[in-house]
Amino acid sequence: MTKNIAILPGDGIGREVTAEAVKLIQVVAASRGETWNLEEGLIGGSALDATGSPLPEETVRLCRAADAVLLGAVGGPKWDHLPGDKRPEAGLLGIRKALEVYANLRPIRTWPGLLLASPLKPELVEGVDFIIVRELTGGLYFGQPKARLDGGEAVVDTLHYTRAEIRRVVKVAFELAKGRQGRLTSVDKANVLESSRVWREVVEEVASEYPGVLVEHLLVDNAAMQIITRPKTFDVIVTENMFGDILSDEAAVITGSIGMLPSASLGEAGPGLYEPVHGSAPDIAGQGLANPLATFLSVALMMRHSLHLPEAADAIEQAVHGVIERGVRTRDLARSGEAFVKTADVSAMVCEDVKRRL
Ligand code: NAI
Ligand code: MG
Repeated sequence: MTKNIAILPGDGIGREVTAEAVKLIQVVAASRGETWNLEEGLIGGSALDATGSPLPEETVRLCRAADAVLLGAVGGPKWDHLPGDKRPEAGLLGIRKALEVYANLRPIRTWPGLLLASPLKPELVEGVDFIIVRELTGGLYFGQPKARLDGGEAVVDTLHYTRAEIRRVVKVAFELAKGRQGRLTSVDKANVLESSRVWREVVEEVASEYPGVLVEHLLVDNAAMQIITRPKTFDVIVTENMFGDILSDEAAVITGSIGMLPSASLGEAGPGLYEPVHGSAPDIAGQGLANPLATFLSVALMMRHSLHLPEAADAIEQAVHGVIERGVRTRDLARSGEAFVKTADVSAMVCEDVKRRL
């Protein structure tokens, strides 16, 4: 059995971490005696430079035909002067929309060896393990109209959802909760927003299909506090696009480094999109300093959710756990004065370990 995986390196450290992830994916393929088809596509600033578009049609075709897509990161100062629809980030929004990957899963967990990397007290963050499910293709970021009005003196953005759009992402969250600790927190702003009142109604409807899942509703401003004050009590959190964007960056602080945070974006059918949460990190690009582990953990999610190879997912997660426990640190994880290793070094260690495990 071969697998078709589209690799979109993008810009900056996106290129460095995906190059290492390709080696990791090949370790998994080789362990099964298979050769997988890994094909690179252009996205972001490098696509702009090469073709004039941040998301060439060919890239969309490549991704649609793949079993899964791995994306690095896009953007950088070189393209910051461009208008919104011409920027590298337009490629990112474009590919998420083109693949209709409406459920963005962001696991937030702490690593026993990294508790001190978090600015929060170790006893507060020890054992944190929850998933944020962010709606990704609707809500405030996509609703129309979205425009400047009255010659620029007024402006409108629109939070638009259909019940069907809410229901499908809420179902993903219930399914996850069912397979975990059976607790779901739905986050909204139902005291103010009509869209949130409907969101809550849909959550309650879907809840009747999942009697084993305990549902809690939190207003988003309160949720922002609770995530920091009682992070251990969450299991699965589901929320609107912008709320999820903000809360997941906030939650990232619990884990210590953005270099450890993976994500998976899933749709109904078609390939899942897997990417580290971090950006292209122009400040360290080209120096071999990037932490590839967020991308490796994204590959683990790909193995689990798109390629149906849970044992490969477990092996990668255990290998990452292993290097952290052995005290291996990339620069983002090292405390000041502490020794650190380079991107390729930690990558080689994880690849070796995964090879042994599979
Ligand atoms: P960033 O995530 O690229 O970097 C923030 C800080 O974290 C920097 O100090 C960086 O060195 C560090 N960092 C990030 N990932 C790291 C890793 N794997 N290993 C070690 N250190 C890491 O966010 P920033 O600086 O706000 O944005 C830089 C560019 O990336 C911008 O053009 C932005 O638009 C773009 N961006 C792209 C995203 C994507 O492609 N998904 C997401 C966020 C930003
Ligand atoms: Mg964000």
